[in-house]
Amino acid sequence: MTSFILGKIDFDIPRLAEDVAAVKTMRKGRETYDEFSSGFWKNVPLWNENGDGSDGLFRDFGLPARPTEYASHVPYLTEVLEERFNLRQLVMVRARDIVDASMMPHKDFLELEEDPSHQFRVMIVLEDNEATYNSDEEKVFRMRTGEVWFLDAAGVHCAANFSTESRVSLCLDFSFNGPFTPADIFSSPNLYEPGSEPMIVKRQPLPEHFEMDIRRMAVACNRHNFRDLAFALAKLHFSYEVPNDACYDWLIEIADRTDDPALVAKAEQAKDFYIADRKIHERFSFTEW
Ligand SMILES: [Fe+2]
Repeated sequence: MTSFILGKIDFDIPRLAEDVAAVKTMRKGRETYDEFSSGFWKNVPLWNENGDGSDGLFRDFGLPARPTEYASHVPYLTEVLEERFNLRQLVMVRARDIVDASMMPHKDFLELEEDPSHQFRVMIVLEDNEATYNSDEEKVFRMRTGEVWFLDAAGVHCAANFSTESRVSLCLDFSFNGPFTPADIFSSPNLYEPGSEPMIVKRQPLPEHFEMDIRRMAVACNRHNFRDLAFALAKLHFSYEVPNDACYDWLIEIADRTDDPALVAKAEQAKDFYIADRKIHERFSFTEW
């Protein structure tokens, strides 16, 4: 099941604006998953296992989640969550603000022991930003304000904001012990209204000889810019018709043409960590050698 629109929220715009402003002023704590992103990427836990707003680690636990101290700063959003969603199945809610930022394409839930098909991630954008894109294994798309999206986080997915304007969103995680349908995440089944047309981003065909030509980047690739290069390659699928994980093979090809075997090992580790196999608490760094 790839990402799709589950429904729509007609926000009270003035009340929403107050809460969006509050999210922007929330303290940016130490990011739990900072190897995944580059640029300004703030995640604030609004609901989690223990109600502690400094705990951003995602884990599946005995439900349901509890509001953190930050939830009281966003009363309207709290009201919307309580009215519209099935909070009994809620694991976590994060408010997110991204500015001039991108992430490495990755799969979530790899590190969990539980079956990832029991996890259901939902994104709700709170302010429109035309320079912000998401991708899954099939498409690049733009989420518009109020759209409630299922995000296929068990598959390879990615996001970027190519502007210096913020883009605030909510990320909701639900977990189920047994079979469920998307309607089960809502407080009432009639809030599940699939079928809306998503805004798909049109991409260009990959230029001829691109995959040969890109290997020439090896002449400018070293340990000091390897992280920059990885994030730069990861952005290309937003413009060109290539799978969002193509960057990992390009990175390996480029590293392979340098005279530094550590770069090849790092590129292979990156592919493994982000999209294949990752243990709980395992970390990865593009800058430690
Ligand atoms: Fe993710």
